[in-house]
Amino acid sequence: MKKIIITGGAGFIGSAVIRQLLAESDHFVINVDKLTYAGNLESLAEISDSPRYCFEQVDICDAAALRAVFAKHAPDGVMHLAAESHVDRSISGPGEFIQANIVGTFNVLQAAREYWDALPETKKSLFRFHHVSTDEVYGSLGKTGCFTEQTAYQPNSPYSASKAASDHLVRAWHHTFGLPVVTTNCSNNYGPYHFPEKLIPLMILNALSGKPLPIYGKGDNIRDWLYVDDHARALRLVFEQGKIGATYNIGGHNEKTNLEVVHTLCDVLDELRPQAQSYRGLISFVQDRPGHDLRYAINASKIERELGWKPQETFASGIRKTVQWYLDNSAWVSHVVSGEYQQWLQQHYKNRGNL
Ligand code: NAD
Ligand code: DAU
Repeated sequence: MKKIIITGGAGFIGSAVIRQLLAESDHFVINVDKLTYAGNLESLAEISDSPRYCFEQVDICDAAALRAVFAKHAPDGVMHLAAESHVDRSISGPGEFIQANIVGTFNVLQAAREYWDALPETKKSLFRFHHVSTDEVYGSLGKTGCFTEQTAYQPNSPYSASKAASDHLVRAWHHTFGLPVVTTNCSNNYGPYHFPEKLIPLMILNALSGKPLPIYGKGDNIRDWLYVDDHARALRLVFEQGKIGATYNIGGHNEKTNLEVVHTLCDVLDELRPQAQSYRGLISFVQDRPGHDLRYAINASKIERELGWKPQETFASGIRKTVQWYLDNSAWVSHVVSGEYQQWLQQHYKNRGNL
């Protein structure tokens, strides 16, 4: 049993990791989250009463509060997921991304290092700092090839640049200060509890309310989709068994154009919640995202070979589960769609010539 600080545990992926750790391990989890617009404790309702779970509402930009969390809970490791995560928001307001993703990661590293430095040798060698990052740090691919752990960093958006900076900080804290780190770079996740500003949940919810389905450009950009619980399983494996100082790419071998994704969603909705006309009729092409990366694709052979990880869901099975989850959980949706998010959304699509 380990005591693990998970930053960003009220978000989409962090909450999946916490639900899985409490269901399938003996670990004790301390969820450190500021609760931004993207953080929602309702995503943790099924485990919030567990004696192996506690919540600390802390901003990772607050160094003193972070130090106090380490002193109070004496963790055996950290899984760092807290971040601003939406590319479009990083274009309309990059400042928050610099603060949370770069300054915030620096603070988490410093608090972890100060705490780790003072540990007795036996505990020190077992400590892990797991940094959760994205494949977007590698930039954009052409029509062929895949990102490997050796691909050079070439981030293109303020979001991916801020995540790349955080990856570099983590690497430096290992090489310079000896902090035992592991880093993962994952492709696009989808699944339950996904905030409805991202492509898949936005399309499902817009379709269900008869709104346009806004596809940027021609819809021919490609993403490599992974079901969130498969990512959570990979993260646990890397945290428990990953080699210190190593990085691991995580991806589902599910390359799809955005148009293919939206067609699939419409077809599943046509089957599960039929209407007079197909949902495909709601598709609307809007102004492209500035600097829109063409294609992401992950070569995940290192984590498969070294740690024996393989995704359990296919795209077809994962998408069906996801659509069904949104159909069954309208209360969660209405609670996360706050006034602040609605205002941002209206402005964003007004600028793109839609809604
Ligand atoms: P999310 O936006 O759903 O959740 C982010 C969480 O971090 C929220 O709970 C939010 O309240 C918290 N947070 C933000 N700023 C904070 C701060 N200053 N202090 C404390 N908490 C703060 O994001 P997600 O999709 O769950 O992504 C989690 C991590 O995984 C991020 O680091 C992201 O870069 C990375 N990642 C995401 C994907 C994806 O497809 N979603 C893929 C690869 C990597
Ligand atoms: O690759 C991993 C990354 O995947 C993560 O690091 C990010 O945190 C996560 O948000 C995601 O980034 P993307 O920009 O790929 O995800 P998003 O859901 O915003 O967009 C997916 C694709 O769909 C992208 O090509 C843009 C397009 N899109 C998105 C929205 C919101 C549309 O065509 N219309 C839309 O309304």
